[in-house]
Amino acid sequence: MALRTKPRKFQAPMLIGNWKMNPDTLDEAKLLFRAVAKAAASPKYGTIGVAVPTLYLREFLNSPQAKKSKLVVLAQDAFQEKSGAYTGRVSARMLREAGITATLIGHSEMRQAGDTDEIANIKLHAAINEGLTVVVCIGEKVRDDEGTHLHFIRQQLLTTFRNFPKGFESQLVIAYEPVWAIGTGVSMDPTDLHETVLYIRKQLAFENGYQHLSQIPILYGGSVNPENARSFIENGEVQGLLVGKQSLTVQSFMQIYDVLLPIRSKRK
Ligand code: PGA
Repeated sequence: MALRTKPRKFQAPMLIGNWKMNPDTLDEAKLLFRAVAKAAASPKYGTIGVAVPTLYLREFLNSPQAKKSKLVVLAQDAFQEKSGAYTGRVSARMLREAGITATLIGHSEMRQAGDTDEIANIKLHAAINEGLTVVVCIGEKVRDDEGTHLHFIRQQLLTTFRNFPKGFESQLVIAYEPVWAIGTGVSMDPTDLHETVLYIRKQLAFENGYQHLSQIPILYGGSVNPENARSFIENGEVQGLLVGKQSLTVQSFMQIYDVLLPIRSKRK
């Protein structure tokens, strides 16, 4: 595999904003990007990034603000095929060619649009092979007292990370985002989050062929805001956050980032 540049390694604590299909004009998007890039110009610790609509990727990446900033520009998805009759798709290779170093894969909104665990697995392999760092999203749709969500998460892990190659772990980040918490304003209880993070690590550690993934950084996503961010890191034991709605306001996004910093320095 010939890579042009070394893959980008994300450092904890991580804060990734998922802009989804926002803002709806390039002018607004540029304003937001410039402000975030300026605020995140030289983070003291960790990695800060924004996953933006495909159409904005190149524009942002080549902007003077991005060049001066350590802000990572991520794609929101990467298609597995290199080229061909795939209307509407953008491949991992094209992203790489454009200079993009990282992407989300398997976000619940992509899954709702048809991405299965098998498809997420194929996309993950293609993106890793292109040298991209991949934030893979997983998470149950519902949670009940019988623990069916745990079986769901286990199955998602096993299929999504099947045959993940040894030696490429630094290109992988897991984002645990319970679907019921995304965009609903109902975030997860940090104690439940901690239990789920332990469950994920345990499944990976004890399942044959997945042991090398048991220490992969895990982010939490789902209705994160400046008020609740601290509890996910301190009590949920995650290495960072994936933030949707609140990443569209510079002030909220940077407030969440400020919450991450002292936690890291306290633990040093
Ligand atoms: P939210 O979205 O923060 O608006 O809940 C999170 C996500 O979809 O990644």
